[in-house]
Amino acid sequence: MGITLFFSHAMARILSTACLASVLLPLVVAADPTPGPAGKAAQPAPASTAAPATPSPAAQPAASAPEAIAAAPAPASSTAAAAPKITYSQCHVDGQYIAMTFDDGPHAQNTPRLLDMLKQRGIKATFFLVGECAAEYPQIVKRIVAEGHELGNHSWSHPQLSKMTDASVKDQLQKTHDAIVNACGVVPKLMRPPYGAFTARQQRWANGEFGYKIILWDVDPLDWKVRNSEHVESEILKHAVPGSIILSHDIHKTTVDAMPATLDALAAKGFKFVTVSELIAMDKPASKTKPAAKPEDAPAPASAPTKTEAPVAKPSEPAKAATPTAAVSK
Ligand code: NI
Repeated sequence: MGITLFFSHAMARILSTACLASVLLPLVVAADPTPGPAGKAAQPAPASTAAPATPSPAAQPAASAPEAIAAAPAPASSTAAAAPKITYSQCHVDGQYIAMTFDDGPHAQNTPRLLDMLKQRGIKATFFLVGECAAEYPQIVKRIVAEGHELGNHSWSHPQLSKMTDASVKDQLQKTHDAIVNACGVVPKLMRPPYGAFTARQQRWANGEFGYKIILWDVDPLDWKVRNSEHVESEILKHAVPGSIILSHDIHKTTVDAMPATLDALAAKGFKFVTVSELIAMDKPASKTKPAAKPEDAPAPASAPTKTEAPVAKPSEPAKAATPTAAVSK
């Protein structure tokens, strides 16, 4: 029981992911300062250079105008500024730390298989759970936690939250939050919006309402689209850099099949695996990891944003904020 239900959900998600992705990705960039992860539909902007960095909510006290972002990716990650950082697509860390993240589960077969692989290697990962699935497989949720992994909220039914009212979004997040707590007793601290589609205002709202950090990604192997293990592995290996948050989906067999080789190759390159919260705890302002950032004239370079964004709001764009710091309770 529940299997067909699960499959239909899974299929719906898969299909909708495939169909919506091309529609949504641009939307994310335009409507929402969420940076790079979704930015490039086909190719995750070269993880190393794209500084998909942190979106605005954190970067700028004044919710940077979405359009401003679309035009210039740079204002983003300047974490140094005043407002607390609440959204992450990668971190700036000392050391080769990365966070593997797995979305859309738990899945009856693939998630336990993945958990075995992680356990064998002593690797901790982060799972962004879909509430419907968490409610259906509470024992897997429990196992995820028992084995030291982190959990996050990925909505109840995987809709495009950026198009929904606060009340509907709250329903999606609350039900999932409750399903997770009921299954394992752990209160999630993170959320990842399906498709990365979440406006800057919603990010602040969810942070204020649930205390969630909003987690995006900087490495996307497009494993939901290209069901090929070698592809998943090579994309991840090609783009992972220290501080990366790597996106993949444990509902896909090909993704899980790719993991042993991927994890071993990452480890061989010197990468160390931590949960997202652990990675965030190591995060530091880009300006400290890079040589002098030039506050004055670090105006979003039109073409090649570097990781050293100006810790200052783009002067030219007086980010007109709807509700500046308001909802950002932390
Ligand atoms: Ni998802």
